[in-house]
Amino acid sequence: MVTPYKHEPFTDFTIDENRKALEEAILKVESELGKEYPLIIGGERITTEDKLVSYNPAKKDEVIGYVSKANKDLAEKAMKVADETFQWWRKSKPEMRADILFRAAAIVRRRKNEFTAHLVKEGGKPWKEADADTAEAIDFMEYYGRQMLEFKNGVEINSREVENNRYNYIPLGVGVVISPWNFLFAIMCGTTVAPLVTGNTVLLKPASSTPVIAYKFLEVLEEAGMPAGVVNYIPGSGAEVGDYLVDHPRTRFVSFTGSREVGTRIYERAAKVQPGQKWLKRSIIEMGGKDTIVVDSDADLELAADAITYSSFGFSGQKCSACSRVIAHQDIYDELLQRVVDKTKEINVADPTNHDTYMGPVIDEGAYNKILDYIETGKKEGKLLTGGEGDNTKGWFVKPTVFGDLDPESVIMQEEIFGPVVGFSKAKDFDQAIEFANNTDYGLTGAVISNNRDHIEQAREDFHVGNLYFNRGCTAAIVGYHPFGGFNMSGTDSKAGGPDYLIHHMQGKTTSEML
Ligand code: NAD
Ligand code: ALA
Repeated sequence: MVTPYKHEPFTDFTIDENRKALEEAILKVESELGKEYPLIIGGERITTEDKLVSYNPAKKDEVIGYVSKANKDLAEKAMKVADETFQWWRKSKPEMRADILFRAAAIVRRRKNEFTAHLVKEGGKPWKEADADTAEAIDFMEYYGRQMLEFKNGVEINSREVENNRYNYIPLGVGVVISPWNFLFAIMCGTTVAPLVTGNTVLLKPASSTPVIAYKFLEVLEEAGMPAGVVNYIPGSGAEVGDYLVDHPRTRFVSFTGSREVGTRIYERAAKVQPGQKWLKRSIIEMGGKDTIVVDSDADLELAADAITYSSFGFSGQKCSACSRVIAHQDIYDELLQRVVDKTKEINVADPTNHDTYMGPVIDEGAYNKILDYIETGKKEGKLLTGGEGDNTKGWFVKPTVFGDLDPESVIMQEEIFGPVVGFSKAKDFDQAIEFANNTDYGLTGAVISNNRDHIEQAREDFHVGNLYFNRGCTAAIVGYHPFGGFNMSGTDSKAGGPDYLIHHMQGKTTSEML
């Protein structure tokens, strides 16, 4: 029997002992920077000439690690291994697979500070955000392990006097997992262990800017008893390795988390049946957001301002769930905007190695330039109230930026910026606020700050997002508590950390025996 699931607690860094422990872990991680990491195919370590270089976004010349880069030949080798391994792994005991996850979670928990310190350096995450990322990785393993134990005997269906019927879930085959850099540990881990625990084999292509954490996680899985060939680590170019594997006729499913641009491309390519392909590939595609907080006329404005500030600027706005647009009722618009601007001006932007940093850098030069371009657009479309500048002397830092008086149809209110930029628009009443909230292509998260019960119920029905929160911010979903995934152009709504997530990695098989 396993203990009931509960989420991993967050670390309180105001406690001296906790703060010192993470400071020491950061020093240890810093002493190990710049190492080389090979590919892992069938348990074999393979070093290539061509390397991905992972940098610290807060110190742009500091190398986190040099990672061997897969090409098409190595991707093909990994596919063969995963395909062969699937032939026996699919029959392995679900209890054994769940135990690997529980053991891996325990290993990460014992080395939590070391992983969190690594995320501070490789992801540029402030301590609180890095700690939450590690906790979420642990949660995915604990939750999906328990979910598999629930599914292992199938689901109850009807039998008759003349026949005995069963309904079981069986794995799909080889899955290609393509993960993003923003939850470099949690999403990479969750999207890898879900197919593993359901009996599939995996080709893991982590994000090119954060590949080292994925290598370290593979080591944990091996230590926890994962057999060779079940998860294969093949970092490489999205365009080369990604396209090759998405198109491959032996790929049974693709699990992608990332941008709309790449996600829609993968969705389309995976749908094309290739010569020799015997199935329709399944695509789990989770993409971006343009997430809105609606503030009602009777709202607690201090709560609203705190929720907006944290949701917009936690991890520099680089969460798919981040608030990037606020729709405020005209009666409270001016006061709310002023409170948010005042709070934003107090934000400490610095190297996240320091424990009191609230906001660190953005991930890389490409993101930095793209965000500054959007800020120029914002200056034309609305009123810049604070921020609006970058500083790339040491790392990729962008000041938290607030724009007021935007048209809800403007670029700043429609396109995913994926940086520390939030825009405000005014609504004449609550109906119009919900109409504006729904007027993007996306549908990932949203929040309503209101004390009006009728308005809360109206939003529950009409605000069309996968994760809707009341009287809190729109980020920080917890595995097993807030199943996470979006509507419309935010993705296939597979609901990571939810009770049906594992089913996306399996197929139902009915057996009926005449008595
Ligand atoms: P991205 O789309 O640039 O990259 C995601 C992954 O796809 C990376 O591993 C990348 O190397 C790979 N890739 C790139 N081109 C490819 C190709 N042609 N074929 C196959 N793979 C390819 O996204 P990103 O910048 O890493 O992440 C940020 C985006 O992810 C944002 O849009 C954010 O909203 C979204 N996101 C969504 C969720 C969610 O759950 N909905 C969670 C986190 C991030
Ligand atoms: N699960 C992450 C959040 O809710 C993306 O912020």
